[in-house]
Amino acid sequence: MIKVAEWSHELFLQRDFHDKILIDMTCGSGRDTLFLAGIANKVYAFDIQVEAIEMTRSLLEQNNVTNVTLINSDHQFVSDHVKKPIAGAIYNLGYLPGGSKEIRTESDSTINSLKKLLELLEIEGIVVLVVYQKHTGNESMRLLHFVERLPSRHFDVMKYSVLNKELAPYIIKITKTA
Ligand SMILES: C[S@@+](CC[C@H](N)C(=O)[O-])C[C@H]1O[C@@H](n2cnc3c(N)ncnc32)[C@H](O)[C@@H]1O
Repeated sequence: MIKVAEWSHELFLQRDFHDKILIDMTCGSGRDTLFLAGIANKVYAFDIQVEAIEMTRSLLEQNNVTNVTLINSDHQFVSDHVKKPIAGAIYNLGYLPGGSKEIRTESDSTINSLKKLLELLEIEGIVVLVVYQKHTGNESMRLLHFVERLPSRHFDVMKYSVLNKELAPYIIKITKTA
């Protein structure tokens, strides 16, 4: 069975980001941050939970990664911390595996942060969101409603989904075109 979170990384391998800035909007246990750090010049990684920031810090240290700035903040404040144009970002929505299920991404903050991120995004930049619709029903619906209405003269919006499994996680990829 396809692992959607791993497959989301493939979407970043279609371009060269070695001199670019990327953002992990929900660093959690740090696997996506570690991946982004390996392909980019600089990575900013956000999480609202100290526990997640410390897990990510530990994973990065074990792998001798030094090009990541960890930010213990709600990702809605992304533009307070990142002032330069960015080439891409990833979200892995939901809750920290093994952590509290009460602390999870919510539709309002996800959509607010996405609006700010799309302003920071360079032309040809991408935002990839991994959406677990089983755990994030309302968030998933509101997010789709938002991305489906992004103007097609500025953005391409793709959805990648598993057709033969009910409520399987899916991926949204937004590319800024103009
Ligand atoms: C599914 S986990 C992320 C998994 C992670 N990317 C990985 O590779 O392990 C979702 C994370 O989003 C974080 N989160 C929830 N709401 C947030 C918010 N408003 N701003 C930043 N992080 C948030 C949670 O604390 C949790 O760690």
